[in-house]
Amino acid sequence: MLGVGLGLRVPHYRHVLEHRPRVAWFEVVTENFLGNRGGSGGRPLSILEKIRSHYPVVFHGVSLSVGSKDPLDKIYLKRLKALSRKIEPALISDHLCWTGIDGKNLHDLLPLPYTEEAVRHVARRVIEVQETLGRKILLENVSSYLTFRHSEMQEWEFLTEVCNRADCNILLDINNIYVSSRNHGFDPEVYLKGVPAHRVRQFHLAGHADNGTHVIDTHDAPIREEVWNLYRKALALFGPVPTLIERDDKIPEFHELEAEMKTAMRFQKELDEKPFTRRSAKVDELGHRAPA
Ligand SMILES: [Fe+2]
Repeated sequence: MLGVGLGLRVPHYRHVLEHRPRVAWFEVVTENFLGNRGGSGGRPLSILEKIRSHYPVVFHGVSLSVGSKDPLDKIYLKRLKALSRKIEPALISDHLCWTGIDGKNLHDLLPLPYTEEAVRHVARRVIEVQETLGRKILLENVSSYLTFRHSEMQEWEFLTEVCNRADCNILLDINNIYVSSRNHGFDPEVYLKGVPAHRVRQFHLAGHADNGTHVIDTHDAPIREEVWNLYRKALALFGPVPTLIERDDKIPEFHELEAEMKTAMRFQKELDEKPFTRRSAKVDELGHRAPA
């Protein structure tokens, strides 16, 4: 599966179903379709099934809380597995973060300390998730605004260690890398070069607010020039990785997202004209590259 996809959002359901726009695939926020804890998906599920009959779909979760000390939510995983059997998403992803503790959901994607202890903890839990689901997942880097005194490695080293030990894949959010690089003062290209290319299976692109002294990841605005520039560098390093235009708030008219999708497609097309620095020539049926 190659190309550029869009995040499926409620205001666009009708447009997509009635007009079936030319979009390579849609990403859905998994939790919106899991239904109640009894497992009934209701109307959202019937809409997702209709969308799925016309488009490939990928799942993107926000509540796995893989970094938390709380036990993994077995009921959530069971429902995720059932939904994935029904919809057959091309990819399943969640975030390298924690979202709550002691049974309380903080409704935010919170960063972890980058320590060996945290690597072992998260990798063990990712293995458990993958064994339950019977397939690999992707972990996405989150934006952050603080660092921990206890951290023993850089964020990209932490991401790499977790994914190598758990044998899971990576969803690189290019905007989140940019946001964190500004807030913490690292070079975003060093980040890109520090992750294992063969595990990078999806990109996210989104907007942010630049406050000068710090940058806030809002996901509620058009993609900014500096993120497009970093995306082009990521394409040169990793090849035409499936890319999502991600807008989570202040959802615009569908055509505005389509315009950003076309920009990303144009940058992917440019790759045809130049060789990639780290891409393997071997590509499987889903467009995934074999390890170099
Ligand atoms: Fe993202």
